[in-house]
Amino acid sequence: MDLKEHTARQLEEARRRSLDLLDPVPQDDLMTQHSVLMSPLVWDLAHVGNYEEIWLLRTIAGLPAKAPQLDDVYDAFRHARHDRTRLRLLDPQQSRSYIGEIRGRVLDTLEDIELDPPNPLLKDAYVYGMVIQHEQQHDETMLATLQLRDGDYPCVQPPPPAGRTVPRPEVLVPAGEFIMGTDTEPWAFDNERPAHRVYLPAYWIDTAPVSNRRYIDFIEAGGYADSRWWSERGWSWRSEQSLEHPQFWFHDTDGSWFRTRFGRREPLPLAEPVQHVCFFEAEAFAAWAGKRLPTEAEWEKAASWDPKAGLKRRYPWGDGDPHAGVANLEQRHFRPAEIGAYPGGVSPYGCHQMVGDVWEWTSSGFDAYPGTEWFPYREYSDVFYGKDYKVLRGGSWATHPSAIRATFRNWDHPVRRQIFSGFRCARSA
Ligand code: AVJ
Ligand code: FE
Repeated sequence: MDLKEHTARQLEEARRRSLDLLDPVPQDDLMTQHSVLMSPLVWDLAHVGNYEEIWLLRTIAGLPAKAPQLDDVYDAFRHARHDRTRLRLLDPQQSRSYIGEIRGRVLDTLEDIELDPPNPLLKDAYVYGMVIQHEQQHDETMLATLQLRDGDYPCVQPPPPAGRTVPRPEVLVPAGEFIMGTDTEPWAFDNERPAHRVYLPAYWIDTAPVSNRRYIDFIEAGGYADSRWWSERGWSWRSEQSLEHPQFWFHDTDGSWFRTRFGRREPLPLAEPVQHVCFFEAEAFAAWAGKRLPTEAEWEKAASWDPKAGLKRRYPWGDGDPHAGVANLEQRHFRPAEIGAYPGGVSPYGCHQMVGDVWEWTSSGFDAYPGTEWFPYREYSDVFYGKDYKVLRGGSWATHPSAIRATFRNWDHPVRRQIFSGFRCARSA
């Protein structure tokens, strides 16, 4: 398939996903706010189209703005998520027709565009890849909103493959250099560049994310009530919020655990990775277990470095694109898979499920790589560097394959847990 065809298909795939996700939601529900942490769903939908218009029609094709007043409404920096219902939002029907019109013109102009250097925006269809990943990222955000929303959301899907025993609980990654980041991944974001050598002392890293079963051990050992395991900030957040377990969990009088998933209550699946924990909870669990969270570099080395070949892989299993046999992505199952469910996705060091299932908290703040340059706009990454964010790696069951790779960096506030976040532990050797 040539690059243009690939690009057009990826645009289509993203749009199909966005529309399908919102299709079961009543019109009124699309306009309301389901959580102060999230936008009304209809904002995400039209924002995706506005971003596409700005980049692919105005910047690339040189077309005039269709409705300039929309730029303010759909600018994420001008209005906080919790304020967005007060804006003059397009209603669901208007949003669908706005984004549909934009998309129609994008596909028309794509036919005549030369996807070639010297314009760096067009090299490898970069700006198209950026717009595609942007829509897919917002689809994951919409899934987090749908999970927070009251009421049943239809998500009947084939179950994920069953878990399997993972032979060793942790593996040793010997001291040495690896290559972090990328210069060659065509659609990598600015924050993933440039590739650079990083030396790491030897460390142990868990072969799998922490499971619900293991996490219950922490709860039942009194982990939430013992300040020894918590950082100072974590402890005050835990106390202020009265945190006692991950979000969406319930404890029955007989002692059994339940969770709600897209509005439905179900017994907590013990063999799945824990999800909906904040950074502070992950950090406390790790301390209780006598470990710590991996740094971002430790995570990436364990996920993608092939020590025998001295080469970096695009994904833990190799350079081939993700598929159903190696990783749980794209809401194929609307849930994480059990621990050990993807033996085909193991990294050279022996780590399972590093891509898909749950985002993994790392101990690292979101900082710029040495020699990085923002491109093509500062507001994707640059304005977030050095602030109070922690890096998450690996993507979740809700992440689209186009928006994940071993070098992909996500970040969020350490208190957030409405995202599909879990973690694995590490320790210094
Ligand atoms: C990279 C996932 C943190 O969702 O805020 C979406 C991606 N940037 N629109 C986010 C993004 C602009 C971003 N994250
Ligand atoms: Fe956005």
